[in-house]
Parts: sequence; structure tokens; C-alpha cells
Amino acid sequence: MAGESHNWVLMVSAQTPTNIAVIKYWGKSDETLILPVNDSISVTLDPGHLCTTTTVAVSPSFEQDRMWLNGKEISLSGGRYQNCLREIRSRASEIEDKKKGIRITKKDWGKLHLHIASYNNFPTAAGLASSAAGFACLVFALAKLMNVKEDESQLSAIARQGSGSACRSLFGGFVKWIMGKEENGSDSLAVQLADEKHWDDLVIIIAVVSSRQKETSSTSGMRESVDTSLLLQHRAKEVVPKRISQMEEAIKNQDFPSFAQLTCADSNQFHAVCLDTSPPIFYMNDTSHRIISIVEKWNRFEETPQVAYTFDAGPNAVLIARNRKTATLLLQRLLYYFPPNPDTDVDSYIIGDKSILKDAGLEGRTDVEALPPPPEIKGNISSQKYQGDVSYFICTRPGRGPVLLSDESQALLNRETGLPN
Ligand code: DP6
Repeated sequence: MAGESHNWVLMVSAQTPTNIAVIKYWGKSDETLILPVNDSISVTLDPGHLCTTTTVAVSPSFEQDRMWLNGKEISLSGGRYQNCLREIRSRASEIEDKKKGIRITKKDWGKLHLHIASYNNFPTAAGLASSAAGFACLVFALAKLMNVKEDESQLSAIARQGSGSACRSLFGGFVKWIMGKEENGSDSLAVQLADEKHWDDLVIIIAVVSSRQKETSSTSGMRESVDTSLLLQHRAKEVVPKRISQMEEAIKNQDFPSFAQLTCADSNQFHAVCLDTSPPIFYMNDTSHRIISIVEKWNRFEETPQVAYTFDAGPNAVLIARNRKTATLLLQRLLYYFPPNPDTDVDSYIIGDKSILKDAGLEGRTDVEALPPPPEIKGNISSQKYQGDVSYFICTRPGRGPVLLSDESQALLNRETGLPN
């Protein structure tokens, strides 16, 4: 390792999006390599609203690998972190920074220690998939720091070993995780189906549902499903392969009715597999079910799907509207059924892309309780309201893949010490 002194710190920062599956990954055939029992397809969410930022640093003065998540030091001893670090180190190449007088050979990378700081721009407690963006960002940033020559798909196979869904966050737009055939997992990786500009009418609204319940983690939930659910076997073999090709077609043709029908059916089947697990797993709650009913009723009333819904391993609803106009109508409905608590104003109740709020004529409004009932329930007296059952809404859209942050002011580690800022 060439370098006059030992006090240099070299670092890289990156930003990586999260993603929502429209054809779900649920079940592994290999727990260590994280190999799935079926292919899956996701939409990448705009990192402007939901993302992870990670800074990785290397210095001869670091005594061990260390990591800080949202400002708190966490252990890197877990197998998933260790697997990602080992895989990425084994692909490192020589780098040279003549200005700083630094040269790191391939062999040096095995001996040097790393500091990693990661930050989510959304509350971890909200139960939004943070491990997907987190592992994708870790792998992407380390690959840049260590001059790894692999492409995004090859990097996705490393991120996969941190968390399955993370492999789909290496790309923007619409992404497929191909389960692969190789026993060593080398062909279990993500590919981009279409970029975020391909179908940019879509608007995504996430309802963060209030919940006091501690949920079963995806990792243990899917293990229990693999062990006990016959429906999971049927789903993986017979149902998903057909849905994958239909979903690819729907995305290619921007065919919203097919896209919505497949998305809703696949979310419902995933939750049916959870119910078919012994003991059964309940991720959705009454509020989740209510949101499904509202969307189903509206879609039926319009005679063609306006909105698709999908739920991961928790009660939050991810709603995909066919265009901005539909999104404004959706927001009005959501506010009608789930008005904010009296102490919350609309502007802090609906976050993310505020322009939808403006289009819906809801910006700064203080009288949302006066919104008229939607036409599909007119004449139906049982239109109850559920104030307080949704914590807040996030408006977003399909977004881009990982990017490097060249602006040093966005780094999470100090340039001189390599410790969190
Ligand atoms: C329901 O990727 O969190 O969100 O691979 O064990 O880390 P591990 O699980 P994880 O599972 C995600 C499951 C899901 C569906 C999906 O994202 O496809």
C-alpha cells in the first residue's frame, strides 16, 4: 500500500432507492445464499421520497470494519453482512489516487478495514422495506470505492446475499429478479425490464398504517411458509411463472388493467400463503382490508381498474394509480375515509410529492372532513370514517436506480477521521 502517511481516508457516497414488488418473492430454496423459490418483479420508488444514503470509507488507520445505521453503531458480525463484504472484497481492483499519493492493490483490500455509515430518509419504524435499499446501497457504494468492474446485475447477486429484495434496488424503473438455476446462486440476479421513464404516468401513494403489533420478520415468516404451506409450493410452480410473463407483457405495453389485476391478485395470494402457514401469519390488519375494499369498490364502479394495491410483510398499503388525475381522485377518497387527527394538518399528513396534493385541491385545506362521499358509495348510509387509522401518506412515483453522490457535503463520514459526522 503506497502512501506517505497512514492518515488518509478515501471515501465514496451513494444513494439507492427502495422497491415494491408487484409479483412477490416469498420463500427461499437456500437460506444462506438467499435463493428464491420463484422469480419476482418490482417497481423502484423515487429516491427523492424514499431512499438510503451510504458513505463507505477506507483508511490504514481504521482498526476494524465498523458500521453506523441512522447514527447508531451496529454490529457487522452477522452472516449477511459478512457474505456481502467477502464477495465485494474478492472482486476489488487496484486503485491509484496520484494527487493524494494513495495506491491500493488488490491484495491490500483484503487487509484494509472499512467504515460504513447509512441513513434512511424515511422513518424505519414505519415498517417500509429499509433492508432492500440498505444492502443495495452498501454493495453499490463499496463496488465504487473498491473499483469493482462488475455490472449492476452482477452486483445485484451480491446485494441479494444481504437481503433478497435488495437485489432489485440496483436498478430504476421496472425490475425482474430471475431466480436462476445454478446451485451457487451465480445466475440469481436482477435485470431491468424498463427504466423509470418508460411508464411515467404511474403515481404511487403509500398509506402508512398505524399498528401496535410487532410483525413476524420476512425472513422467519417465509421460512415458516416454506416449511408448512402447500399453497406456497403450488404458487411457486404453477402460478408465478405465468404471472411473470403476463406482468412483463403488461409493463411493456403499459397495459394498466392487466398490471393492476396481476398486482392485486399476487399481493392477495402472498397473504393467502401467509394464512396457509402454520401457525398462520397475519400481516394485514382491519385498515389494510378496508383500503382493499375501497379500491375494489371504486374499480368495479368505474368498470376498469383505476388503482392497484399491494401489501408486503406489514399492514401498509402501496397504491399505484394509473395517472395523476386518478391519483388526485384516490387522495380525495383516502382523505374522506381516513381524515387526519384534529391535531394534524393535511400538509404533514400527506408527504413526498406535494404536487399531487395541489392538483387535488387539497393543499393547505383545513376542512377535509367536509369532503363529499365518493360516487360509488352514494346512497349507502354505512360509509363510516376511520380517523387516526392511517399515520400518514407518502406520494411518490417510479424512480431511478442507485447514483453516486459527488457532493462531499452529503457524505455521512468525516473526511479526516472517517467517523460519523
Ligand atoms: C414481502 O427481502 O426482506 O417484501 O431475503 O429474508 O431479507 P430476506 O427477505 P426480504 O423479503 C421481502 C418479502 C416481501 C416481498 C418482496 O419484496 O418481493
